[in-house]
Amino acid sequence: MTDDAISRAALQLRDGQLVVIPTETVYGLAANAENDRAVTRIFEAKGRPSFNPLIVHVPNVAMAEHYGIFNAEAHLMADHFWPGPLTLVVKRRPDSPVSHLATAGLDTVALRMPRHPVAQALLARLEFGLAAPSANRSGRISPTTADHARDELGDQAAAVLEGGPCEIGLESTVCAVMENGVTLLRLGSVTREMIEAKTGLKLSLFSGHDDHAPRAPGMLLKHYAPRLKLRINVTKAEEGEALLAFGPKPLPGAKAMLNLSERGDLSEAAANLFAHLRALDREEFTGIAVMPVPENGIGAAINDRLRRACER
Ligand code: TXA
Ligand code: MG
Repeated sequence: MTDDAISRAALQLRDGQLVVIPTETVYGLAANAENDRAVTRIFEAKGRPSFNPLIVHVPNVAMAEHYGIFNAEAHLMADHFWPGPLTLVVKRRPDSPVSHLATAGLDTVALRMPRHPVAQALLARLEFGLAAPSANRSGRISPTTADHARDELGDQAAAVLEGGPCEIGLESTVCAVMENGVTLLRLGSVTREMIEAKTGLKLSLFSGHDDHAPRAPGMLLKHYAPRLKLRINVTKAEEGEALLAFGPKPLPGAKAMLNLSERGDLSEAAANLFAHLRALDREEFTGIAVMPVPENGIGAAINDRLRRACER
């Protein structure tokens, strides 16, 4: 990635245009988070419902604190996990310049400091944060390469910044940090165990049925869906299916096979998940059969995405 491309992207973003950016989790479709018109373009490009708020990416804690209110717990989480794949949902500052469209009219704002060097270099040049949802059409699989992002939304963005295949491959962990405690809203590579061990905080789990729970509007939707029907925890593959295997012993009998990780490594499986689903999502197959993935560590986040991908 040349400096030139990053400078050009900075100009386009200042001008209210959209730019696809790499992050360590997935590629994002970015716009100036303080500009209503630019943020509107994101919702239009993705076909995203306007009630689903966006994550605002920041270069440092100072800008995060300019946008949202950081209590002691939020500082503790940021100290341990920023920059990196953890998003903190905090109360909006009353004078926060973040577009109310980006936060979908909520009194909270989702903030993340990415660690991908291209995202960091870009953010360092801007005087504003970047609202950036995953760079896919609403409800579809998140892109983990620049080519996948171009396939999804290339025609909607002024530029696509190259950043190589995403290191993590799953969207960030999302935690709400409010006066009444910390709630895990979306599973990711930063696990509940990691957060509790590093910070000493106790996390509650989001339940969509609890009226007092913080809202996680995006989590109520069908998500991450390939076009083909998906079966998970499969122990026998059908003839016409494509198999998404995990571990050294792929099931026999499928028409085609890709392995998330031959050596049974969950981080490798996470990094391969969306690219493999995309590759197997072809009309020549009757469906995609996914072998069981262990629930420990980042496996919980992998299984969360697989379950959502089954929803029709
Ligand atoms: O890894 C990621 O987080 C990627 C990269 C590009 O940073 N972004 C991403 O954005 O996954 P998106 O828009 O696909 O997912 C954002 C999630 C949604 O589930 C949304 O509902 C939730 O964060 N969210 C955003 N703002 C929120 C808020 N104020 N309160 C509760 N949930 C919020
Ligand atoms: Mg998304």
